[in-house]
Amino acid sequence: MDYEEIFNLSYWRVFGTIVDEKPAAETMYGRFLSHPEIAAKFAQGDPDKPMQMLRASVTLAASYYFNRKPDHLLLKFAELHSHRHLGIEPHLYRFWMESVLQAVQVHDPDCNEHVLEAWRRILTPAVEFMQSKFET
Ligand code: HEM
Repeated sequence: MDYEEIFNLSYWRVFGTIVDEKPAAETMYGRFLSHPEIAAKFAQGDPDKPMQMLRASVTLAASYYFNRKPDHLLLKFAELHSHRHLGIEPHLYRFWMESVLQAVQVHDPDCNEHVLEAWRRILTPAVEFMQSKFET
């Protein structure tokens, strides 16, 4: 199974499809912010931030998978999310992943188990990297 190819093709379908007048980032936003622990983290900042983050985070996470290096741009954001700054505890990344996968189900008309597995495989290294930097 060529998960990289499956992911790349699905990525374009997901971000190119408007469903119920919503682009994928907005679908993710609804799901992500419905978790009280997530909403609490954004309570004080700029209200546009969660949407900006969701748009940027998927692309950044995928680019980490394809270019994996310790000094990847993701390092800067992993440090920002660590206990010293935003304090995004490791268990919160599950909500991010779930929101992404839910948007894939809604926005990719060809979604199936292999497509979801491809997204999980491509995005998991970035999540693990971010989680590993929490205590640093
Ligand atoms: C792999 C997963 C994630 C990646 C790659 C990521 C990446 C980013 C990026 C790139 C930004 C800056 C956005 C911008 O200023 O335009 C950001 C901001 C932020 N992220 Fe994440 N994020 C991830 C997961 C999470 C999770 C699970 C939370 C939990 C609530 C979270 C909370 C935040 C907050 C609160 C900000 C706003 C910081 C501010 O006010 O400037 N992130 N993230």
